[in-house]
Amino acid sequence: NAPRQTAASIRAAKGGTPVVCLTAYDAPTAAMLDPHCDLLLVGDSLGMVVHGLPSTVGVTLEMMILHGKAVMRGAERSLVVVDLPFGTYEASPEQAFASAARVLSETGAGAVKIESGAYAGETVRYLSERGVPVMAHVGLRPQASLVTGGFKAKGRSEAETEAVLAEARAADEGGAFAMVIEGVDEALAERITREVSCPTIGIGASAACDGQVLVTPDMLGAFDWTPKFVRRYANLRGEIGEAARAYAEDVRTRRFPGEGETYRLRKD
Ligand code: KIV
Ligand code: NA
Repeated sequence: NAPRQTAASIRAAKGGTPVVCLTAYDAPTAAMLDPHCDLLLVGDSLGMVVHGLPSTVGVTLEMMILHGKAVMRGAERSLVVVDLPFGTYEASPEQAFASAARVLSETGAGAVKIESGAYAGETVRYLSERGVPVMAHVGLRPQASLVTGGFKAKGRSEAETEAVLAEARAADEGGAFAMVIEGVDEALAERITREVSCPTIGIGASAACDGQVLVTPDMLGAFDWTPKFVRRYANLRGEIGEAARAYAEDVRTRRFPGEGETYRLRKD
């Protein structure tokens, strides 16, 4: 039984074998992914891929805690990181600490992640100094989509490049143990990875990063549409659809349940 990964062991992986991360939202899936991963992220993507919300903006701290508890029951060796959702950390370092403390104490997870704009360096430091390991998330920040107008890769202009670099530097100087870089040009991901002291975990951010993460249902082929940066390793949508079709046919033709699936109890 390998010991569980920690924020410190993930930080120490900078520049080594790439850090393997996937998202998880429930106990059985976490248990299936856990042996193969270093880090399981309870992402606020659960708003969209589990709850059918139009964006991550409607996700609550209660939802994150509920799914965080479930993932902790399934994961033994991966570091479990829980996203702080929109509206629970941006107002002040104190607000962020109150939310993070609830997440860590109620779920048992080992760290939180925040979508850290350039303003958030102070929050990262405040949390880190008070016992909360923080994973940052820079570049394309889905919680900011109402302001930025959507989900577009960053690094098209010098100004955009400088803005993302400022986010990354702020998080690194604040003491983040790792940072997700989402949706950026390869040259920018390479530059951030070279400049910051913590491992960079890319999603749509090239092979230059110190690790990779994907949203698990995207990677499993649960949806017809996925962003350009997703590679599908399974066809869950096809498999589940075919299983449901076969079951429906068996029920309607009375081929299910059969002999072996039927109780014939001996009467005492
Ligand atoms: O919510 C999420 O799943 C994430 C990953 C895409 C990094 O933040
Ligand atoms: Na997220």
